[in-house]
Amino acid sequence: MHKLKTPWSSNMGTTRVSREFRERYLEPEKIAVKKWMGRNMGESVLDVGAGDGRFTKLALDLGAKRIVALDIDDEMISKLRSISSSPNLEVVKANIREYQLADREFDTIMVLGNTVSGFYDAFENGEKSAQAETLRKLIRASKRHLFFTLQRPESYDLIRRFYEVNHWDLYGLDAETGVKRMRWQMKDGSLIEVRSQHFRREQVEKLLSEAGIPQTAYTISPINDINWQIEVRTGLVV
Ligand SMILES: C[S@@+](CC[C@H](N)C(=O)[O-])C[C@H]1O[C@@H](n2cnc3c(N)ncnc32)[C@H](O)[C@@H]1O
Repeated sequence: MHKLKTPWSSNMGTTRVSREFRERYLEPEKIAVKKWMGRNMGESVLDVGAGDGRFTKLALDLGAKRIVALDIDDEMISKLRSISSSPNLEVVKANIREYQLADREFDTIMVLGNTVSGFYDAFENGEKSAQAETLRKLIRASKRHLFFTLQRPESYDLIRRFYEVNHWDLYGLDAETGVKRMRWQMKDGSLIEVRSQHFRREQVEKLLSEAGIPQTAYTISPINDINWQIEVRTGLVV
């Protein structure tokens, strides 16, 4: 049986390609996010697909008064519970696509580490607009900002080498859409499957347009050759 999962850890191990992954991908993303959050975070923050909480912790350190760290995965939920006993932190296990959010509930919503491409799981059910629909929902729920990062096509070579070293079978890349499919055999013989996607700038623009976001309400900027950062000023989206 195939199990869909993101076996995520922001501690990528000690191989040469892991170091490269950290240095070229994770660290520049973290520096860019920290800079952005330092200026814009607001008092209430939703971290969607929070993983092991590297950005949740950053938001707490920067003084967020209410931070909700949401993830679909049990392992991530227990990691998130262990990062802080602050009453400002709420950990929620949920699928963001089903989770109920009140209008303008949070100042800022962040979806980091290419997590938006993971909403792609909906493709299995033929729901091609899942990413855009979810972004639209997040925009309604945020007062000020939606902030997310996506992989650029130039990341592919690094990702491919990283998965190869870790014995993942990266069995499909659709060159047109940037969708990658990967699988990995667990010790009990079951298979885990992962989807990911990288985006050319015009694909990011298309996604934002599908989510109903006018060009005047967003900026797309490269963090480096690996990542885009996208800021939507949600107050400008009706
Ligand atoms: C690539 S990791 C990024 C983690 C974190 N944002 C970071 O940058 O360190 C993606 C995370 O999103 C979670 N995730 C994927 N699809 C989700 C969904 N539909 N609802 C909630 N969480 C989801 C996964 O379990 C995983 O922890």
